[in-house]
Formats: sequence, C-alpha cells, structure tokens
Amino acid sequence: MITPIIEQYIEAHTSFESQVLADLNRATHLKVMQPNMLSGHYQGILLQLISSALRPKTILEIGTYTGYSAICLAAGLQPGGTLHTIDVNEELLPFAKPYFEAAGIQHQIQQHLGDAKTIIPTIEGPLDLVFIDADKAAYSHYFDLVVDKLRPGGVILADNVLWKGKVVNDHKDNKTKALDDFNKKVQADERVKNLLLPIRDGLMWIERL
Ligand SMILES: C[S@@+](CC[C@H](N)C(=O)[O-])C[C@H]1O[C@@H](n2cnc3c(N)ncnc32)[C@H](O)[C@@H]1O
Repeated sequence: MITPIIEQYIEAHTSFESQVLADLNRATHLKVMQPNMLSGHYQGILLQLISSALRPKTILEIGTYTGYSAICLAAGLQPGGTLHTIDVNEELLPFAKPYFEAAGIQHQIQQHLGDAKTIIPTIEGPLDLVFIDADKAAYSHYFDLVVDKLRPGGVILADNVLWKGKVVNDHKDNKTKALDDFNKKVQADERVKNLLLPIRDGLMWIERL
C-alpha cells in the first residue's frame, strides 16, 4: 500500500533497530522458514513505543516465532513484570532463548509451548497488553479468550488484519474471511474502543473500556 521509496524514507526517519534485534532479524532470515513472519524494524519500534507508554505488568503474546516482537513488547515491562509468549512450534523455543538473554530480559519471559487456545485459559490476568499474531483463523477465538482478562485501559494489538488488502475482496478465502469476521466482531463489541491502523499488513488497536 506504500511505495518502496516511501517505505525507505519512513524507515530512515524512525529510530534504529538495536544490535540484538538486528542480529535476530538477520539470523531469522538466514536460518528460519518464512522470515517474513517477523514483525521487523518499523513495527518493532511501534511495539516498543506502545509498551513504553503503557508500562505493562503482564503481557501476553500469541505467536512467538523467533522472539522479535517479544523483545520489542518487553521494552516497557515494569520491573518484576512478565511477558508470556506462546508458540506451537517446538523448534522455535530454543532459537529465541539466546536473543532473550542477549536483550537481558530472559528473567521476564515465560515461553509456553502448545496451542494458544488451550494455553491462554491457564494464564492469569489481569493482562495489560496482548499481541495477537498467530493462526489467523483463530483471531476471534483469541479475542474471546482474552478480552475479559484485560484490565480497563488494557490493550490488544492484532496483526495482519488487512491481510494484504484481501479483506475488502468480494470473494474471500477462509483466512481472509476469518480476519474480516474478526474486524467486524471487534467493531461491534461495546466493551472496547478500536482503531485499525494501516501499518504494514494492518494493525488493530483495541482498548478495553
Ligand atoms: C507471524 S508468526 C509470529 C511472529 C512474531 N510475533 C514476530 O513478530 O516476530 C506466527 C507464529 O504463530 C505460531 N502459531 C501458529 N498457530 C499457533 C497456535 N495455534 N498456537 C500457538 N502458536 C501458533 C507459529 O508457529 C508462528 O511461529
């Protein structure tokens, strides 16, 4: 939706990636399948700024992948706070760990292995910040599982909600339909205030009232 030259200009006028995140970004591209799943520099800075503004005590991330967004989200954690991050792929857990250590946040991270649908109910609230970034077909289900665990003023960020712009197509495949259903569900829910940001693949910002 934004031309590559504008994208370059935007990145050039956004704070730099830390060395740990740059190393993780590079290692993910060299060694892991589907590196385009990683949030990346620009969205990473946004996650850091949101977390720093909210000063969360408890963060839940659905979809760790190689840990890039977890490191960004942890930027604003209160001392003694915890970031729970869930992934179903057991090969990714050990990949992320050294980068959590290099970022000095390993003591604040709890990695959970398994299907988020079964793990989320075991995580105690109140939650201050939730990042939904796994299994597009389950976004609405994840929303139902977390919305009442959020403290008032707590925030859910849901990634990829524009799905490369396909949500506006008349004929939608299953994932596109699931994301469109999610966007409509959030829009109709009176417990929250929401803003769909046209950042990268679309980021829905949802605040619990
Ligand atoms: C888009 S990637 C996450 C990217 C990461 N948040 C980042 O920005 O660096 C999605 C991740 O969700 C995981 N995943 C897919 N289905 C899942 C499920 N049902 N439960 C937990 N994790 C799942 C995948 O293994 C993958 O690592």
